[in-house]
Amino acid sequence: MKRTEIAKLLKPIETGMEVFIQGWVRTKRGNKQVAFIAVNDGSIIHNIQVVADAVAFEEVLKKVTTGACIGVSGKLVESLGQGQHVEIQAHTIEVYGTADADTYPLQKKGHSLEFLREIAHLRPRTNTFGAVLRVRHALAFAIHKYFNDHGFYYLHTPIITGSDAEGAGAMFRVTTLDAGNPPRKEDGHVDFSQDFFGKETSLTVSGQLEGELGALALGRIYTFGPTFRAENSNTPRHLAEFWMIEPEMAFYDIHDNMDLAEDFLKYLIGYALDHCADDLAFLSQMYDKELLNTLEMIRSVQFERLAYTEAIDILEKSGHTFEFPVHWGTDLQSEHERYLVEKHVGRPVILTDYPRDIKAFYMKQNDDGKTVRAMDVLFPRIGEIIGGSQREENYDALLNRIHEMGIPEKDVWWYLDTRRFGTAPHSGFGLGFERLVQFVTGMTNIRDVIPFPRTPQNAEF
Ligand code: 4AD
Ligand code: MG
Repeated sequence: MKRTEIAKLLKPIETGMEVFIQGWVRTKRGNKQVAFIAVNDGSIIHNIQVVADAVAFEEVLKKVTTGACIGVSGKLVESLGQGQHVEIQAHTIEVYGTADADTYPLQKKGHSLEFLREIAHLRPRTNTFGAVLRVRHALAFAIHKYFNDHGFYYLHTPIITGSDAEGAGAMFRVTTLDAGNPPRKEDGHVDFSQDFFGKETSLTVSGQLEGELGALALGRIYTFGPTFRAENSNTPRHLAEFWMIEPEMAFYDIHDNMDLAEDFLKYLIGYALDHCADDLAFLSQMYDKELLNTLEMIRSVQFERLAYTEAIDILEKSGHTFEFPVHWGTDLQSEHERYLVEKHVGRPVILTDYPRDIKAFYMKQNDDGKTVRAMDVLFPRIGEIIGGSQREENYDALLNRIHEMGIPEKDVWWYLDTRRFGTAPHSGFGLGFERLVQFVTGMTNIRDVIPFPRTPQNAEF
């Protein structure tokens, strides 16, 4: 018989027919006559209850313990018990895999998220991670859908890169040289010309620069891939390996860019609300009673748009004591971002026109000679969720900035070429996928929204 997903059986459905399910046992209880087995197959947060004759199934029931994997065929009937409207009266039970009650780590409910991080290989079997991973999937799908519906092309930018132009932080080296005995040049430095690619290469910190090349040919593109940063930041919002969505649009100025970012985020949050109701209800109940209200609020409010200089003024006049002092020219810390969003404005904020010295070389320079056309979207709880800008499309201005910042021209000649041949005004941004998932699920630590988090000292699984 063909397997039916539990999600399908729990929808309003006719009863009385024979069904077949396969999944993992969450709990088993009962008495001498009858056993009640709660089975989950990952298709939905809810379990289905299997009712089995304890005498007829006596032998097999010994192996039906929490964590075991089973297949059950039986009759789908209306349930008289509380908490479910249908259940299965078992006709056959097959055990595919037992789970020893003394050693299975998820024996009981209510493990801490910290403990579950230590068993990341098993935590997808908990309600919380099932919910988070289904929401994560829905958001990834919605991202592709949004862009496809809006005429963007999905561009695959490289993961191994020979340029460090972004300056977004330390990079992970990619090499096949013998770490213990690398070839050396006369001056003693490692000779990377003998390395696999004939030069130094790393894992990318962003697909943007290559994304721009695509936008200046296809009009509107987006990348959605893994990015890597070797910063030693042990915070609830940083991963060493995270996924980033980077749209890049020819002929967009910073205002078009902000409009897109706002519409995009609202669409994604709305998509999750409309398609992940059960999982979000569960997460809300477990972790943040205000979650659904917050998500509804973001979907319907207008984001506040504020220049960096105004924001500094607000922060300086706030009378609030920050851990990191703030004045014009400093980069904002998440405490400052959250103050603006949560205390001052009460809705998401798009902050623009940052000092050029704290932003990347490619951002379009304003006429004041001090600021650039940057835009960061700041969210409650998360702080920065999006970073982006209008790009400097003027060849001379860009080259100047490259020289000023000491970026070797030989590393970015191909990028400069786009400004020499048919340059165009253009803009783009990067959305941190895990920060989005964090926001939508209400999880407070970013390590709990990616299946296998990579952080300093941690790449076990
Ligand atoms: O602000 P960032 O560094 O911007 C860029 O990389 C640009 N190239 C994007 C662009 O314009 N195409 O990173 C973008 C976003 C941040 O706003 C944040 O949400 C996320 O990526 N992010 C991280 N997420 C998890 N862990 C980290 N270590 C992150 N660093 C950035
Ligand atoms: Mg940023």
